[in-house]
Amino acid sequence: MIKNNKVALITGGTGGIGTAICERLYKDGFTLVANYKDFDKAMKWREEAKKWRENQLQMGIDVKIVEGDIADYKSSERMMKEIQDEIGTVQVLVNNAGITRDTPLHKMTPEQWFEVINTNLNSVFICSRLVIEGMIEKKWGRIISISSVNGQKGQFGQTNYATAKAGMYGFTKSLALETAKKGVTINTISPGYVGTSMVMAIREDIRNKIIEQIPMGRLGDPKEIASAVSYLASEEASYITGSDISVNGGLYMSR
Ligand SMILES: NC(=O)c1ccc[n+]([C@@H]2O[C@H](COP(=O)([O-])OP(=O)(O)OC[C@H]3O[C@@H](n4cnc5c(N)ncnc54)[C@H](OP(=O)(O)O)[C@@H]3O)[C@@H](O)[C@H]2O)c1
Repeated sequence: MIKNNKVALITGGTGGIGTAICERLYKDGFTLVANYKDFDKAMKWREEAKKWRENQLQMGIDVKIVEGDIADYKSSERMMKEIQDEIGTVQVLVNNAGITRDTPLHKMTPEQWFEVINTNLNSVFICSRLVIEGMIEKKWGRIISISSVNGQKGQFGQTNYATAKAGMYGFTKSLALETAKKGVTINTISPGYVGTSMVMAIREDIRNKIIEQIPMGRLGDPKEIASAVSYLASEEASYITGSDISVNGGLYMSR
């Protein structure tokens, strides 16, 4: 493994897809920072992460984990300062943290709406705003936001979630225009249904019906999302900006 001296921050890094992204970017040689909100879960996760080092012939890199509520500007500002002071400038930001609060609109509470919009969309503004100047100064940066197939096609019970995920595309295209000449690329990845706790929380009969509709006939593996992140974060993807990569087993084919 060759270290590349760049710091990569993965929000929700201790979750299902986040963990796969961390493992992959670690193998790619990034200095990793995994953001979390749930302390107990993060402590267990850090123990597990030590195994990656063993697998990587003890190259001696620790995965830094930082607490921060990415839906809250002040909390995120404190987290970013901690990263800047202790590790360095974030040059790869993966906006991965997200939640669901599914329910049809006629039953949706304002809390369910605002919690999802704040966590899944306002966080993208918050975290990107806090790292963008550092990336521009370094003349190299990557912002990769994990959207969703349901932001493209809509989903029953997900007016809140689909709105947040669709909003990421407009943000991405606009910021991509602002940074196109500055060495900073901005893209989204839109996963289909991936076998993490978020999807395993869906009632089994409903989940099975969803799987039946996926042309490949199976859920995605978190590693399949992580490999798309790895590509967009790499030098090879330097001419890709304002774009989206769908990783959905054929569930939705746009254009
Ligand atoms: N799984 C899928 O099928 C699928 C499909 C399309 C898109 N996605 C998207 O992929 C991303 C990852 O999903 P996943 O399946 O890996 O879900 P997950 O296992 O539930 O992980 C979500 C992560 O988000 C973090 N998080 C939530 N609220 C946060 C906050 N306010 N501040 C900081 N971190 C917060 C959680 O951290 P704590 O546990 O520490 O709170 C958790 O680590 C999400 O954006 C999701 O919408 C998933």
